[in-house]
Amino acid sequence: MLRRFIRPARRLPLWLLLSVAAPFVFEVIVHLWRYSVPRPASELDTPFFTTCQEPDVGAKRENAIFVMLARNHERVKAKKTIISIESHFNKWFNYPIMFLNDEPWDPLFIQELNATVSGKAMFEVIPREQWTYPDWIDPAAAKENIRQQGETSTPHAGEEGYHHMCRFYSGKFYELDVLKSYKWYWRLEPDVDFTCAITYDPFVQMARHKKVYGFTIALWEVGASCPGLFRATADWKEMMGVPANNLWKSMVSASWMPFPFRSLLSWLPHRDRHGDTWSLCHYWSNFEIADMDFFRTRAYQDYVEYLDKKGGFYFERWGDAAVHSLAVAMFVDPRKVHHFEDFGYRHDRLFQCPANAPGGQLLESPLLGNGTNADGTTSTWSPEMENGIGCRCECDGRETQNYGGYCLNKLKQPTSLRRPWFTWLL
Ligand SMILES: *[C@@H]1O[C@H](CO)[C@@H](O)[C@H](O)[C@H]1NC(C)=O
Ligand SMILES: *[C@@H]1O[C@H](CO)[C@@H](O)[C@H](O)[C@H]1NC(C)=O
Repeated sequence: MLRRFIRPARRLPLWLLLSVAAPFVFEVIVHLWRYSVPRPASELDTPFFTTCQEPDVGAKRENAIFVMLARNHERVKAKKTIISIESHFNKWFNYPIMFLNDEPWDPLFIQELNATVSGKAMFEVIPREQWTYPDWIDPAAAKENIRQQGETSTPHAGEEGYHHMCRFYSGKFYELDVLKSYKWYWRLEPDVDFTCAITYDPFVQMARHKKVYGFTIALWEVGASCPGLFRATADWKEMMGVPANNLWKSMVSASWMPFPFRSLLSWLPHRDRHGDTWSLCHYWSNFEIADMDFFRTRAYQDYVEYLDKKGGFYFERWGDAAVHSLAVAMFVDPRKVHHFEDFGYRHDRLFQCPANAPGGQLLESPLLGNGTNADGTTSTWSPEMENGIGCRCECDGRETQNYGGYCLNKLKQPTSLRRPWFTWLL
């Protein structure tokens, strides 16, 4: 009985099966190999410092500015951020801070925040034409679409202002008259915490090490916010003949489907026209220390203009974090991207907080103090741990864990020796 079922299969010779399958298997292997990212011979991006430093308050500053987009009703949250960055960094370095609003400022906001900064504070209003629909978008259709997006669970997709904000931070921001004279910026948001002392000047270090883009947290984008973004980006990249560097390859999850069936996958979202997909990994752009000249390049501005014409800032909810990340992956040498893994940073429920450096807390520093405050209270630093790189971090017991370790490892793949097993597969 059993033999009767088996026999027909036996008649198809194994050699025939194998020789039909072999070219497909071979093609898949070659395809995956094209997207493999070689392990570097040494770490190509390391922390600038791994212990506290005596703040060099007399050193030459870079041409840099903090930028925070805030609304009048976010006064308390904005102040919280400024108090945090001033006490952990800027009281020693006094960089100016620019507050941007899409509406006229409430005098109370100006008064309170101006009194909170140690450097110069500026309060600017974004020109109306940079915070509205472009000519080629029908506002009524866009508004209706945004209303419908609001009925889905995609975060902020139903907020018109949020769409303008993402578009603004993606492209127009760097071209603002009030920012034109600055090269570097550090982006702040209302309601974030810095949880470690930052005792060196990151702008100076970025310039010295020829870095272009600095981040703290990497994570997955919400796929439903941008089903067409990767395709648009990959199409543009091919159209312009931009070669794929290792950072781009680390963003792409190459498909295991053999040609020609692979191409059929291109009908699915987050796929390029060959059927390969974006892992959705990106840098969380609410923290950014970056060289604005990168965003001002012809290539970057052309890319964003192309995206803008596609309408995805309104008819989907393309975020500036995803746009920045894909652009960095497309244009920037991976060695020029810096992970500030020594910074403690929290926004929403996501955080990064390193363990403190053993013997590196510089208790004798006159500027940093010995941990006993003027009022007699003592600072509650987290314990020092082997391989810790933090300076006086206060992590509430949540140290060393960067949310979304998968994405962090993915995006650091071209520069880092430390790789978990599952990234070897891709
Ligand atoms: C902020 O305060 C300083 C003095 O502390 C003052 O000179 C400056 O004009 C104020 N800036 C604004 C925008 O109010
Ligand atoms: C730390 O500094 C405070 C003054 O800032 C001083 O009163 C205290 O004795 C110092 N503690 C140690 C252990 O040096």
